[in-house]
Amino acid sequence: MLKTRIIFTFIALFAFIFTYLHAIPPPSPPPPVNHAIALLKKIKGEVKFDQIVVKNQTKMIVNGIIKKGIDENTPENYFISFSYFGAESNETHSFAELNIPIKPPKAGPWNVTIPGVVDGIAYQTFYVLKDDKVLDSATITKRDT
Ligand SMILES: *[C@@H]1O[C@H](CO)[C@@H](O)[C@H](O)[C@H]1NC(C)=O
Ligand SMILES: *[C@@H]1O[C@H](CO)[C@@H](O)[C@H](O)[C@H]1NC(C)=O
Ligand SMILES: *[C@@H]1O[C@H](CO)[C@@H](O)[C@H](O)[C@H]1NC(C)=O
Repeated sequence: MLKTRIIFTFIALFAFIFTYLHAIPPPSPPPPVNHAIALLKKIKGEVKFDQIVVKNQTKMIVNGIIKKGIDENTPENYFISFSYFGAESNETHSFAELNIPIKPPKAGPWNVTIPGVVDGIAYQTFYVLKDDKVLDSATITKRDT
C-alpha cells in the first residue's frame, strides 16, 4: 500500500516537472546585430557597420563620413576606436591605416572592410580621436538595414 503511494507520488512529481518545463519555453537569445550605426553629434559624423562573411571570416564593412572638426590633413594623427563586448582595451585604427581621406574640416566618405563582428561592438562606445584626445564619442546602436 505504502509502496503504491510512493510510486504514485513520484509519477505525480515527474508529471508536474515535465509540465512545468514545457509550460515555460526557454528564452530565445536575441538575434545578432548585423547592422549598426554611430551618430557623432559634435563632429557631424555618421559611421555605419555591416556584417559580412568572406571565406568563413567575419568582417565588417565600415562606412562613414565626418563633416566637422577634422582640422588637419594628417591621417596618421586621427583614429577611430571601439571595444568588443566592453573588453579591457579598445581596438583602434588610424585614418591612415583605413585610407580615410581628409579634406579639412571633413573626413571621408569612406568604406573599408576590417575583421570584426558587428554584434560584438553593438551598444559599445565608438570614439573618434586626434592623437589621444577624444574629438567625439557615441553609442553604437542597431539599425535595421
Ligand atoms: C567554412 O567553415 C565550415 C565549418 O567550420 C567548413 O566546413 C568549411 O569547409 C569552411 N569553408 C571554407 C571555404 O573554409
Ligand atoms: C577606450 O577609449 C576611450 C577614449 O580614449 C577611453 O576613454 C576608454 O577608457 C577606453 N576604454 C578601454 C576599455 O580602454
Ligand atoms: C562599400 O563599397 C562597395 C564598393 O566600393 C560596395 O559594394 C558596398 O556596397 C559598399 N558598402 C556599403 C555598406 O555601402
